[in-house]
Amino acid sequence: MKNPKKVYVGMSADLIHPGHINIIEVARGYGDVVVGLLTDKAIASYKRLPCLPFEHRKQIIENVKGVVKVMPQETLDYVANLEALKPDYVVHGDDWKSGPQQETRTRVIKVLSEWGGELIEPKYTEGLSSTALNKAVKDIGTTPGIRLGKLRRLIEAKPIVRVMEAHNGLSGLIVEHCNVQENGKVDEFDAIWLSSLTDSTVKGRPDIEFVDLTSRAQTINEILDVTTKPIIFDGDTGGIVEHFTKMVRLLERMGVSAVIIEDKQGLKQNSLFGDDRPQVLLETEVMCEKIHAGKQAQVTDEFMIVARIESLIANQGMEDALERAQAYIDSGADALMIHSREQDGAEIKEFCSAYEKFEKKVPLVCVPTSYRHLHEDELAEIGFSVVIYANHLLRSAYPAMKNTAEIILKSKRSLEADEFCMPIKDVITLIDD
Ligand code: SPV
Ligand code: MG
Repeated sequence: MKNPKKVYVGMSADLIHPGHINIIEVARGYGDVVVGLLTDKAIASYKRLPCLPFEHRKQIIENVKGVVKVMPQETLDYVANLEALKPDYVVHGDDWKSGPQQETRTRVIKVLSEWGGELIEPKYTEGLSSTALNKAVKDIGTTPGIRLGKLRRLIEAKPIVRVMEAHNGLSGLIVEHCNVQENGKVDEFDAIWLSSLTDSTVKGRPDIEFVDLTSRAQTINEILDVTTKPIIFDGDTGGIVEHFTKMVRLLERMGVSAVIIEDKQGLKQNSLFGDDRPQVLLETEVMCEKIHAGKQAQVTDEFMIVARIESLIANQGMEDALERAQAYIDSGADALMIHSREQDGAEIKEFCSAYEKFEKKVPLVCVPTSYRHLHEDELAEIGFSVVIYANHLLRSAYPAMKNTAEIILKSKRSLEADEFCMPIKDVITLIDD
């Protein structure tokens, strides 16, 4: 056929099902099919990261009968690609006539009218909901390798990666499944923080590196068993170099995506104590050696070693923090965490604006427990790639449990505590068997 018509089909093509094939079949009837394949970034802007990375999805869709070309669609909006391609037709299932995609559809019709293009809307294939397929994928679970690599993909795809603390299987399940939906956008946590503070506290221990790696690994295992999201491990100081390299190997083998180690020495104290406890920094060169040794020890390319800078916690000043940032990057750190216990966020902003001028940058991680008024959008704007909510599930659970215990003690029965407890039926059916 001479000068065949151009037909554009936008899709994510993550979990391919007959619904996708039906659309392409219809599109083939109108001419040469160009698939606008949503990038990881475009997909992550409104729902979770796709199971398969862009290149894999591209390879699959390129080999579907009738597809002559695949082009990346960088946003949910079609306009830029349509203006570049000027297709004669766009084919999309009629399900977008209502719901959150209505606006996108209106813009497609408008831009097509500029060159007389037409929108074709085959009937949506009922019963093939991607939500149901997603649930099936979650039920299958994941592998250590797939989970491990996900953190880097998330950092690439999202303006800011949202991480929530978990300290056991149950809190891991909350981080895994909790979501809120608004205007067709699903918000959820991207990854899990294995906090030393909450992992110690839940065991009734202080946060001083007393809970050993064997015990911490048990918590990781509990969480791994019931979740699929990537894990960032709080490695405290990482211990001496010879111990840190073993920690890296252990975490990597389990499928943990990253370890964060802080540049402190002596008896480790939680950073949020401030001046109440001594906070002694490790010499920069020794920390650099530790980072370097960790990088040498890891087996995969994906595992990340994040260097945590405690200069601001230990009152050593901004200049020290920035010098350490440079030294840690030079030693091979994959990312930096800058910690601060100031409530106004001013020193964090000052660090970020100085860091902005660095020639070689790595992703920045923050733990805004103190400067908690700063919104995720603002943190992303000043340069952070990862935000960790480091202790909030434990901090909210403890007062609730204590309150119930006190009510029962006062009442000498549990009736009065009932209103603070979930119904028995809900707790016995909470976990799928
Ligand atoms: C943790 O969650 O254990 C941390 C963060 O290390 S902080 O408690 O702020 O030091
Ligand atoms: Mg910690």
